[in-house]
Amino acid sequence: MCGIVGYIGQQKATPILLEGLKRLEYRGYDSAGIALLEDEGLKHEKSAGKVHMLERLLANRTFTSHIGIAHTRWATHGEPTDLNAHPQLDDTGNIAVVHNGIIENYRALREVLEREGHNLVSDTDTEVIAYLINMYYNGDLTEAVRMALSQVEGTYAIAVIDSRSPDKIVAARNGAPLLLGQGQGENFVASDVAAILRHTNKVAYIEDKEIVTLTADNYHISTIENVEISRKVEEINWSLEMIEKAGHDHFMHKEIHEQPETLRNATRGRLNIEEGTVRLNGLTDHLEDLSRIKRVIITACGTSWHAALIGEYLLEEYAQIPVEVEYASEFRYRSPIIDENTLVLVISQSGETADTLAAMREARRKGAKALGIVNVVGSTIARESDGGVYIHAGPEIGVASTKAFTSQIMVLSLITILLGRMRNISANMGKEMIEALESIPEKIQQILDNEIQIKEIAETYYKSNNFLYLGRGVNFPVALEGALKLKEISYIHAEGYPAAEMKHGPIALIDEKMPAVVIATKDSIYDKVMSNIAQVRARNGRVIAIATEGDAEIANHVNHVIFIPQIKQCFSPLLSVIPLQLLAYHMAVLRKCNIDQPRNLAKSVTVE
Ligand code: AGP
Repeated sequence: MCGIVGYIGQQKATPILLEGLKRLEYRGYDSAGIALLEDEGLKHEKSAGKVHMLERLLANRTFTSHIGIAHTRWATHGEPTDLNAHPQLDDTGNIAVVHNGIIENYRALREVLEREGHNLVSDTDTEVIAYLINMYYNGDLTEAVRMALSQVEGTYAIAVIDSRSPDKIVAARNGAPLLLGQGQGENFVASDVAAILRHTNKVAYIEDKEIVTLTADNYHISTIENVEISRKVEEINWSLEMIEKAGHDHFMHKEIHEQPETLRNATRGRLNIEEGTVRLNGLTDHLEDLSRIKRVIITACGTSWHAALIGEYLLEEYAQIPVEVEYASEFRYRSPIIDENTLVLVISQSGETADTLAAMREARRKGAKALGIVNVVGSTIARESDGGVYIHAGPEIGVASTKAFTSQIMVLSLITILLGRMRNISANMGKEMIEALESIPEKIQQILDNEIQIKEIAETYYKSNNFLYLGRGVNFPVALEGALKLKEISYIHAEGYPAAEMKHGPIALIDEKMPAVVIATKDSIYDKVMSNIAQVRARNGRVIAIATEGDAEIANHVNHVIFIPQIKQCFSPLLSVIPLQLLAYHMAVLRKCNIDQPRNLAKSVTVE
């Protein structure tokens, strides 16, 4: 997640800005930069890598400025390079912009600017904002920012300085967090209060479509339509540690609750509802090949492998393409049969998992086209693949993957629609699938709002030593994922199984000490799952069912029911996994486990 901090006042800006960036490091980033208004004009420094690398560059320069902006970038468009780091400048070198968010129409804006002779140099979406502001600048920086943003579609939190207006910072927000901080003879702007808490706890939150103009002694807020806003500052009484987790006790809990927003980000600018299809810029150069593929291999590890299994159900049902899912650690040492009609999809949150990287290299060595479904922009798998689709889940700090999993499934759903519409999905079917996906964030929010019930169930079962997770069809991989979540963070042994497979062995384990979580959503195999539940109950096994809202029958057959909203069956994993994430989380909290860094685990397994 990008971080913004700006300062204007009586003190030297550089140390305040650098300290602010360090306070934002927990948000995850891959480059950093700073811009200052010195007597001789706008100066800036930026680099890929961490803030300490930026500090090293600044050690050779003497900045005395009292006004500046700074940024930590989590790459979304354009890899994490010096050139793509923020601030982004216009070609006059007067304007510097730092930005958090995604400009959906930046390609169109860039084309217009380039047709007018401007030579944009970065791969970022942000650069167009600097050029637009300069285009509208006629002495009033606030007005120029207002006019520029009226051209922009997408999400932004920006801060802008201009050497021709050396007494102010202009900032604006739409869809990404931004606040102003009020000091004595100095003012601040930031993405979150962690960046400025050491200097002031008096903040005013900027709302969507608002612009704020900061001087050393004052601030002025208006809407993008130039309507005056009067907003009082309020005192924040949070500790720094609480702020980094946005008030959640753990990053994992914060990331579970981020999923409505991260799934909106995964589809932002990618849905073409009119034609019932999707736009995936990272696959544009491969559409011809994708229309010809005869087979798909999906390779990954851990949670990403579970997402791959869901991709198999989706692609086979809706794109009618044979799919094989392979553990990357196995695939890399096998002799897979691969030819030019084989597409290899490589799923990895970190983009650095050693087994997955090796599997991709092996597949490419054998002539397959490898497309990545990755979260970390510019990661090794992203760079070495032939193309791919970023999941835009933002940095996932908790070792146990949650929001990345659902965003991986969302991207697999988009790829399914794209490939399906090249084959036999009609525009109407495509439209129906897109509308179902658009309803997911709100439905997830409904489940999250019911967290207290899940916490109470965790209180009943957290002392268990074993768990069975059962699911069928597209929810079998969700059973595997639910079991992995519980194992990873609570250290309770848990096994995921296809519900029908239970009678081929695991049923021997069932007794009153072996509870089962069963995904029993209303679908074509509901009755079969109900008979699996009956088999468990007949052996005194306790059952926690994940069921579809409106199912009045199931409560008579199980010990606990967690309802999820009705959704098109193929997309039910996006909902059925949420209670399992929360159940694992609350049982681990009750067992006093280390939630964000479980024992023996690493966030990215970059070794074999
Ligand atoms: C998931 O909760 C685990 N942390 C782990 O299984 C993880 O999914 C696996 O190591 C793959 O990581 P990747 O997605 O970054 O490649």
